[in-house]
Amino acid sequence: MYKRNPYVMVPGPTPVVRSIQDAMGRETVSFHDPRLVSEFKTLIDDLISLWRCDGIAFIVAGSGTMAMEMGIVNVASNDDRVLVCSNGYFGDRYINICSRRGFKMDTLKAQWGKTVTVDEVDRKLGEEKFDILVLTHVETSTGVEFPLRELTKMMRAKHPDVIIVVDGVASMGGVEFYMDWGVDVMLTCSQKCFGISPGLGILWAGKRAIEKRRSMPPLNASYVDFENWIPVMEDTVKYWGTPAVNLIWALSESVRIIKEEGLENRFKRHRFYARAIRDSLSAMGFAPGCELEAASPTVSVALYPEGFVIDDATFRDTVYDEGVHIAGCFGYFAGKGFRVGHMGNIDPHILVSTIAAIERASIRCGHKIEPGAGLAALQRALLEG
Ligand SMILES: Cc1ncc(COP(=O)(O)O)c(C=O)c1O
Repeated sequence: MYKRNPYVMVPGPTPVVRSIQDAMGRETVSFHDPRLVSEFKTLIDDLISLWRCDGIAFIVAGSGTMAMEMGIVNVASNDDRVLVCSNGYFGDRYINICSRRGFKMDTLKAQWGKTVTVDEVDRKLGEEKFDILVLTHVETSTGVEFPLRELTKMMRAKHPDVIIVVDGVASMGGVEFYMDWGVDVMLTCSQKCFGISPGLGILWAGKRAIEKRRSMPPLNASYVDFENWIPVMEDTVKYWGTPAVNLIWALSESVRIIKEEGLENRFKRHRFYARAIRDSLSAMGFAPGCELEAASPTVSVALYPEGFVIDDATFRDTVYDEGVHIAGCFGYFAGKGFRVGHMGNIDPHILVSTIAAIERASIRCGHKIEPGAGLAALQRALLEG
């Protein structure tokens, strides 16, 4: 039987649309080629203005983890105290990065499926002095969204001197956010809401973050040092590390798509699709992995119902055979459910195919639901607009 490639509905990489594939497939040029130099410059200017940044945007070859490392080492010195909030696996990864760096650190950790609250952060910062606050905007292992808007308002009012670093890997470009809310460093990578292949770290550093870096002694790191990259980002004809030419073409096309859709529309679309996906997963008997009020617009965790006897890997393999790639859970949720990414350049057709594949696989695996149970809920949610 003819089969197309499965839809990639894991929480990154996300579907890469034709025009972005074409941009990546352009003939590779020297990074001194005036066409690249000028497109690179426009791209950086767009990233700065779209997300209302008063500093600099960095586009650097590497994965999201590289961006996490770059984000923290440029603003935290060994004299600083760092508070890391963790809502799951990727928050724990930031704890690991900070502890390997030898930072003086304390943590606030949420139970799996919950978020550290704004009140908890406020209380902790009121009790002890910290210089840097680190958090994950959307925690991909649990599908939880950190209430970032509320947090930045509280921080401005009560702890304005603390520098805020946010892992926005699974949120930037899909979830409401602007740098002028009061975040100092925001970071992401190419394979999530920007809908490009993996390979680029993208960071925004506000004026205060740049000033902080400049006040610090030389870093014991080179590739990720803001000071090495700032001259390139300000004047894209300059060289520090070879830019990922084809991914820069691709990011430029991705940003063109984002501008065409409009950031606010894009944010609304992500929330709308997320609700439709969650309604249909719950109509098929899967429980959400997090409290609904904290459920993110970009990734959902669906926990298997009681008596769902099929082994987790077999179920996901069956969904794959039905034409959609979903992801397994890890940490506390390992084996208990699956994760669906719903971010980037996706549309209702992809959502319908995703839910249809999960539904067919569920029935094939012996789950007692009626054909159409999930699809009906999805269609209803999509029609309600
Ligand atoms: C929230 C979050 N932070 C960081 C990362 C790490 O990114 P990468 O795998 O590109 O290094 C991921 C990856 O999924 C993520 O979801």
